[in-house]
Amino acid sequence: MDCPLPGTAKLDVDWSDLGFELRNTKSHIKMTYKEGEGWGPLEFVTEPYIKLHIGATSLHYGQACFEGLKAFAHSDGSVHIFRPTENAARLQSSCERTMMPVVPHGTFVDACKAVVKDNMAYSKIEEFSTSNFIGIDNKNGKYITPSSPSVLPSITNKSLMSIALDEGLTVEQRDIEVGELKDFDECIACGTAVVVTPIGKVVKGDEVYNFGKETGETTMKLYNRVRDIQNGVEEDKFGWNVKVC
Ligand SMILES: Cc1ncc(COP(=O)(O)O)c(C=O)c1O
Repeated sequence: MDCPLPGTAKLDVDWSDLGFELRNTKSHIKMTYKEGEGWGPLEFVTEPYIKLHIGATSLHYGQACFEGLKAFAHSDGSVHIFRPTENAARLQSSCERTMMPVVPHGTFVDACKAVVKDNMAYSKIEEFSTSNFIGIDNKNGKYITPSSPSVLPSITNKSLMSIALDEGLTVEQRDIEVGELKDFDECIACGTAVVVTPIGKVVKGDEVYNFGKETGETTMKLYNRVRDIQNGVEEDKFGWNVKVC
């Protein structure tokens, strides 16, 4: 498949003005699962709409799974997707939890590579966002994040935890009481789209927890390291980048 240069698509806004809004690209990939036959081939679809049967269980029972990841162009012109096997594993666990047929890891990663290649001209890329919560306690050198089966296991959080450990922080994944917010010097929302969003304050009823208007030093350090790995500026010693072309 031809691989056009990233960022060469003609858009109705300047590339420098792109935000996190959803934008149409060239294609998405469709795969159909049939009982007894398994998953069919990857099909490129240019129409951004899907035709859904009126009886689709995703409409009636909300039976659907979410995934999102990003691709990054490095200065040598190569393009990489970030930790796609983590997304493949999380999609499998979502499928198992919602009683749907799992997508094999290799098929998922191949589909990601294929859709990124086909949409290379639009890269910066494919994403949906919300976030996980992280509290930073600088006095005690701690990175604290909730552990709960109802929290989506964020791949960004997982990556930041590895970097935090590498920076010598203690990482705790556990229940967090609201009252503990007063112990945090920095508070972060994290996800693929923005990597980290520094939280200025948390309000609960009459209680206000302030974390300051500036981005905290630990938040900045973690952000810079993960972005440098994604952009190919820092050595990818964790082996997180998967080359697309
Ligand atoms: C509910 C929810 N939590 C957390 C995240 C962050 O996950 P990741 O870091 O894998 O993007 C997302 C991502 O969109 C999400 O939708």
